[in-house]
Amino acid sequence: MRLKGEHLIVTGGSMGIGEAVVIDGAQEGAKVSFFDIDVARGKALADRLNGEGFQVHFEEADVSKFDPFKAAFDKCVAKFGPVTVACSNAGRNSYADPVEYTEDEWHDFFSLDLKSSWYVAKLCLPEMRKAKKGSIVLISSIHGRMTFPNYFPYAAAKHGLIGLAKNLAVDEGKHGIRFNTVSPGFTLTPLLKSWLDSEPPSRAEAAMAAQPLGRMGEPSEIAKVVNFVLSSEASFMNGADLMVDGGLHSRFAS
Ligand SMILES: NC(=O)c1ccc[n+]([C@@H]2O[C@H](COP(=O)([O-])OP(=O)(O)OC[C@H]3O[C@@H](n4cnc5c(N)ncnc54)[C@H](O)[C@@H]3O)[C@@H](O)[C@H]2O)c1
Repeated sequence: MRLKGEHLIVTGGSMGIGEAVVIDGAQEGAKVSFFDIDVARGKALADRLNGEGFQVHFEEADVSKFDPFKAAFDKCVAKFGPVTVACSNAGRNSYADPVEYTEDEWHDFFSLDLKSSWYVAKLCLPEMRKAKKGSIVLISSIHGRMTFPNYFPYAAAKHGLIGLAKNLAVDEGKHGIRFNTVSPGFTLTPLLKSWLDSEPPSRAEAAMAAQPLGRMGEPSEIAKVVNFVLSSEASFMNGADLMVDGGLHSRFAS
C-alpha cells in the first residue's frame, strides 16, 4: 500500500503502460483518476476496478489541449480532492523525414508527447505547492538517451521530457515536490505491437535478439517502478531518469 491516501492521476490510462499504472496505483492504495481519448476502454477499466472495490475515476480528455484537459482535471479534483501524485504517460510514436515533415505534424505531435507533460505540471503544482508535497513522473523512453534512424520527432520529445523533469526538479524541490522520468525500453503494449506489425519480420527478430534478458518488458514492470518513484519510499529521488529497459542501453549495437 505504497500510495495509500494519495490521489494519483494518469494520462493515457486506458491501455498499455498507463493502464498498468492505473491498476498498480489502485492496488497500492491510491484513489486514481485517469484521462484518455479511448472512452470505451477507459470506462470499462474504471468499471472493472470499481467493481473490485478500488476507487477509480475515468474522464475523457485529449490531454494535448489545455482547456479540455483542465475541465476534466477539475472534475477529478471535485471527486477525489487535490492531486498528490501524477504520471504523465500519454504519447505516441512519430517517425519522419525532416524535410517531408510538416509544421502541423510537428505541432500535433509535440502537443502530446512533450507539451502535455507541462500541462500536467501546470495543473498539479498550485495545490502541491500549498501542500509542500508532491511527486510527478514523466514517461520518457530509451529514445530519451539514444535513438533509431528516422525517429527525429520522437527522440527530440523524449529527450525534452528528461530536460523538463530535471529543470522542474530543481525549481520545485524547495516546495517539497519531486520530478523524475521513467524511460522504458521495448514494452509489450498496443503501441509497440502496432510498430512491430508495421515493420518487416526481420526487424522484430533483430529487436528481440538484442534484448539482454531475452524478452521484452511487460507494462506492469514499468508501472511498478513508476509507482515506487511516486511514493514516499523514493523521497530523496529527484531529477532522476530511470531506464527500465531490461539492460538494452548497456550493450553496443553489434
Ligand atoms: N511501449 C513501449 O515500448 C514504450 C517504450 C518507451 C516509451 N514508451 C512511452 O510510454 C507511453 C505509453 O506508451 P504505450 O506503449 O503504453 O502506448 P499505447 O498506445 O499502448 O497507449 C497509449 C494510451 O494513450 C492514449 N492517448 C493517446 N493520445 C492521447 C491524447 N491526446 N490524450 C489522452 N490520451 C491519449 C491512448 O488512447 C492509449 O490509451 C508513451 O509516452 C510512449 O512513448 C513506450
